[in-house]
Amino acid sequence: MPVANSMPYSKNFAEHPLTPTAALVLAAGLGTRMRSARAKVLHEVGGRPMIVRALAPLFELGIAPVVIVVGHQADLVQEAVARAYPGREVIFASQPVQRGTGDAARCGMAAMPAQFGGDVLITYGDVPALRAATLAQLLSHHRAGKMALSLITLELEEPASYGRIIREPSGAVAAIVEACDAVGEQRALREINAGVYVAGANFLRQGLSAISSANAQGEFYLTDLVAIARARGLAVGGFRAADPQEFVGINSLEELAQVNAEIRKTVNRRLMAAGVTLVDPDTAYIDPEVEIGADTIIGPNVQILGASRIAAGVRIDGTAWLREVSVGAGSHLKLGVRAERCRIGEQCEVGPFAHLREGTELSGGNRIGNFVETKQARIGQGSKASHLSYLGDVTVGEQTNIGCGVITVNYDGYDKHQSRIGDHCMVGCDSQLIAPVSIGDEAYVASGTTVVRDVPAGALALSHHPQREREGWTRTWHQRHRGTRQRPGKANE
Ligand code: UD1
Ligand code: CA
Repeated sequence: MPVANSMPYSKNFAEHPLTPTAALVLAAGLGTRMRSARAKVLHEVGGRPMIVRALAPLFELGIAPVVIVVGHQADLVQEAVARAYPGREVIFASQPVQRGTGDAARCGMAAMPAQFGGDVLITYGDVPALRAATLAQLLSHHRAGKMALSLITLELEEPASYGRIIREPSGAVAAIVEACDAVGEQRALREINAGVYVAGANFLRQGLSAISSANAQGEFYLTDLVAIARARGLAVGGFRAADPQEFVGINSLEELAQVNAEIRKTVNRRLMAAGVTLVDPDTAYIDPEVEIGADTIIGPNVQILGASRIAAGVRIDGTAWLREVSVGAGSHLKLGVRAERCRIGEQCEVGPFAHLREGTELSGGNRIGNFVETKQARIGQGSKASHLSYLGDVTVGEQTNIGCGVITVNYDGYDKHQSRIGDHCMVGCDSQLIAPVSIGDEAYVASGTTVVRDVPAGALALSHHPQREREGWTRTWHQRHRGTRQRPGKANE
């Protein structure tokens, strides 16, 4: 029986494009060691749920159908998958009681279309680093060797709790023995089962029904398929993979943090190699999907998440939280910017301490200064709001200046209303725009105005009460209070 001891990337999956391949992804386990109410596969690795990462190589290879065996928080797992892969052919199979990997695979095969007779890859939902190329190699070897079952093995210094690979004198895989069932010399075996398999659907259906739970844990072991195949004289392929990192499963929150730290390091190295300056790589938290142009400088304590795109020559001073944001070339995000689902054009200045909420669009050349909050705000070229404003549900034209403390009053307790401010306007400090309202091009709003109706283009709007003065008022005021209370501002003298 042919046994490959390494996995050269010679045969390509693309050589077998017509062979139908399905997959079972085992993801029903409780993940008890996570000590979390959340299903293990929903915890995030590199900013995406583990299950979403675990499915990526299968979809990359065009494998269909993909059957996901779910148990704990099945609804939430289904939602996460549907959100990440809309339109993909996914079948969910339920494993009501977690009775072992063999039982999980059996539940999965029960949901597989009965007429499917191709190969079935079996992977885990908590192994997020597996690569498509590795699966393609496994499939190639499996088909070239005409195996009934093939699996990936690893040589480990510390075989720990992994299943041990028992080889026949010829080198063929004879069985897998779980660590807790291993006896004598078996425990010392350093070749282990990585938990990635491929089997013909028909062998799989028959083999799974032959698995029993007569073992140390009283579970149905998927690994028993090896001995079952050998007892029927069928060929089993064990293919050694080189990089154990690819098969690392996540069992605890500590392991989750370690894997995430490794991913961050890889992402940061790639970015630095591409010309991005990370002032302190240890505190740069950048998701793998993020794109950043050369000559961008990222200060300490910055999170850039989701599918964000940062152009070239951008400066992010530090302490920023950005999710699904695009930032145009030459823009400068000063200390303390929080931005989500918005577009910042080129040559903008944002912050310090600015909050750009969803639907904010800065056309370019804008300045959004300290303590300004924006939401569903489309701001035209060159317009500015430099201090202390709330701009919500508003369209602002070009080259308009929004003074300090301007508020769009967009909410009446039931509905949100729109404001529109034209080009070349001056909206004076401390003005409120009671929406819906529109301010025409080149209009001026005097400071302290409450704008309650539309302002025509070119007009001045003001709602001041006329100012009056009372001569000598302060002295009489203090005389009236003499001996009763301290003067304001003199309390601690
Ligand atoms: C399993 C293998 C072991 C291998 C190791 C590699 C068995 C019996 N042992 O061990 O040889 O070295 O993987 O990581 O298969 N799951 C279910 N339902 C269940 C049980 C498990 O869906 O009833 C899922 C889990 O969610 C998990 C995967 O199957 O994603 C593996 O289960 P786990 O309990 O981690 O397997 P191990 O005992 O570590
Ligand atoms: Ca495991």
